[in-house]
Amino acid sequence: MDGLREKYLEQVAGAADENALEQVRVAALGKKGEISLQMRELGKMTPEERQVAGPALNALKDEINSALAAKKVALEDAALDERLKTEWLDVTLPTRARREGTIHPISQVTEEVTAIFADMGFSVAEGPQIESDWYNFDALNIPGHHPARAEMDTFYTHRKEGDNRPPHVLRTHTSPVQIRSLEANGAPIRIIAPGRVYRADYDQTHTPMFHQVEGLAIDKDISMANLKWCLEEFVKAFFGVDHVDLRFRASHFPFTEPSAEVDIRCSWAGGTLKVGEGDDWLEILGSGMVHPKVLQAAGVDPAAWQGFAFGVGIDRIAMLKYGIPDLRAFFDSDLRWLRHYGFSALQVPAVHSGV
Ligand code: DAH
Repeated sequence: MDGLREKYLEQVAGAADENALEQVRVAALGKKGEISLQMRELGKMTPEERQVAGPALNALKDEINSALAAKKVALEDAALDERLKTEWLDVTLPTRARREGTIHPISQVTEEVTAIFADMGFSVAEGPQIESDWYNFDALNIPGHHPARAEMDTFYTHRKEGDNRPPHVLRTHTSPVQIRSLEANGAPIRIIAPGRVYRADYDQTHTPMFHQVEGLAIDKDISMANLKWCLEEFVKAFFGVDHVDLRFRASHFPFTEPSAEVDIRCSWAGGTLKVGEGDDWLEILGSGMVHPKVLQAAGVDPAAWQGFAFGVGIDRIAMLKYGIPDLRAFFDSDLRWLRHYGFSALQVPAVHSGV
């Protein structure tokens, strides 16, 4: 029995890993292990012999079991130490540099315009980009034969064969949101409606999809003077200048009467645009007093309510403010362009931070 003890304690001590240790356990104490077989022999002994051999075998079994358990813990500790040595990690190292995305100038300028008009009490309205010809044209006092329809290079959708209703269009301007907002909320109202518009046109300053922001203010006593003040405030805040000269040029839009195109005084000296000084004029928007027929089409009584509307090209004023020469590049998704002209996500426009 001493021989067995010595043999197995030595094997336990010498086991290099948990597999080897398990083999020692099976050899000693497994079903057919050497010590287990010895225990089976007890049955064949005389009671006197058994009284001596039984407790001794049990003690041996216990001793080897605890040696196995202790060795198992020691092997596990050693394995963990080994792993910790190779998987060591310095959490104080700097992180890997990651390229940050940028906010597109269109998004930035839309936020800027929204912040400025929100400060004057305008809320933001939206409408669908696929529009019925009623909202895009008729309700805005542009009847079927009107030249404005032809001039707008409209994209038409398909109707099924035999369906003779007029086709829907990709909205050619944000003005239909005037009608939808008045229908939904009635007067008085003060909204701006930024969004995508579509016309079949393509050159350095035109893309088939571009952006406008519509403005609409209807109340009992709103006049051209209110329009002029609002636009002056807007232009000053947007271009970040204290003074600006606006020129209201008589014009014609079917949905306003009277109508005016608005220019701002500027200079192109040295090739860069300066707003508020110089002898040049830059057209930036169309505007006017909302036509009574438009109010009527939207279910608002033109005898009781009146107001102004305007439409600005967002892409155009973005190009002017940030000196971007080609409109087409806005929509090329060229990462180099986006990194150059894009804005940090932390540059959130707000009137109090100078927009
Ligand atoms: N809808 C016009 C366009 O797309 C712009 C416009 C002009 C809008 C005058 C208006 C307005 O609200 O009063 O060219």
